[in-house]
Amino acid sequence: MTPIQAPFPATRLRRLRASAALRDLAQENHLSVKDLIWPVFVTDVPGADVEIASMPGVARRTLAGTVAAAEEAARLGIPAICLFPYTDPALKTEACEVAWDENNLVNRTIRAIKARVPEVAIMTDVALDPYNANGHDGLVRDGIILNDETNVALVKMALAQADAGADILGPSDMMDGRIGAMRAALEAAGHTNVAILSYAAKYASAFYGPFRDAVGASGALKGDKKTYQMNPANSDEALRLVARDLAEGADMVMVKPGMPYLDIVRRVKDAFGAPTYAYQVSGEYAMIEGAARAGWVNGDAVMLESLMAFRRAGCDGVLSYFAPRVARALAAR
Ligand code: PBG
Repeated sequence: MTPIQAPFPATRLRRLRASAALRDLAQENHLSVKDLIWPVFVTDVPGADVEIASMPGVARRTLAGTVAAAEEAARLGIPAICLFPYTDPALKTEACEVAWDENNLVNRTIRAIKARVPEVAIMTDVALDPYNANGHDGLVRDGIILNDETNVALVKMALAQADAGADILGPSDMMDGRIGAMRAALEAAGHTNVAILSYAAKYASAFYGPFRDAVGASGALKGDKKTYQMNPANSDEALRLVARDLAEGADMVMVKPGMPYLDIVRRVKDAFGAPTYAYQVSGEYAMIEGAARAGWVNGDAVMLESLMAFRRAGCDGVLSYFAPRVARALAAR
């Protein structure tokens, strides 16, 4: 697109910025409560439902507290919440069997939410790390993260979540071939309307630090996730991953982290035009909230500006720990 414009003074770009009304009319992008997915941490470990030190303002919730969060989402108009479990370390094993237990905490929470507020969409995390004695997203043998064996486990986990009533499955594991395997299994099981939001371009990022505290994975993790998560230096590879996951049956795709990777969002949206999401991850939340609490930035203003940046970059929606605060801030306008 080549904008045509007369030379100054016929063109004065400040004209459309001169009043709030004109600025509103000329605004290109909009942020709505309908663009938000709210990630929530759920636990049944006694005493663990406390604020997370590295994520001030975010607490782990009990099952009942998570149902209350879903009810709050419904009241605020937030379309979806995303569940992440903090698992009792005693339940973590190398085989990760709790991941596909139909009565694990996440699956019980899904059923409880669906019984109370069925209109709120529930997104899940499909990855083994909350249940894995060594903290990895996949099964580990002799220090190697196994791809194909992990896919078998992920399919069982995905089916259990779909059976419990999950609306959107979020494979965050970065194994090759898992989207196709899950989609085939969902179709075979009659779960034809369960959506897959693939964490297609997920980078091996230090911005996940506070999340690993929140789900209790920081201590468990042996080594790093660089053999499956992406190299932050790469961009073309993200397009190959997104193309692959869409071709395997993903309905929606995600770029993660968010704000440091908005160039990737723009490339993905332009290349495929698919429903595109990004995750404003725990470290991004912590930076904004930490600076706000120190009095260094205006927290609400920076929060809203950061989310508008996701929209401008091409995101259809954003996973953000700020979701309920954004909803309230937008409603107050
Ligand atoms: C793991 C998972 C991670 C996040 C979501 N799912 C962390 C990781 O890959 O180690 C990060 C979310 C955040 O930082 O807010 N399956």
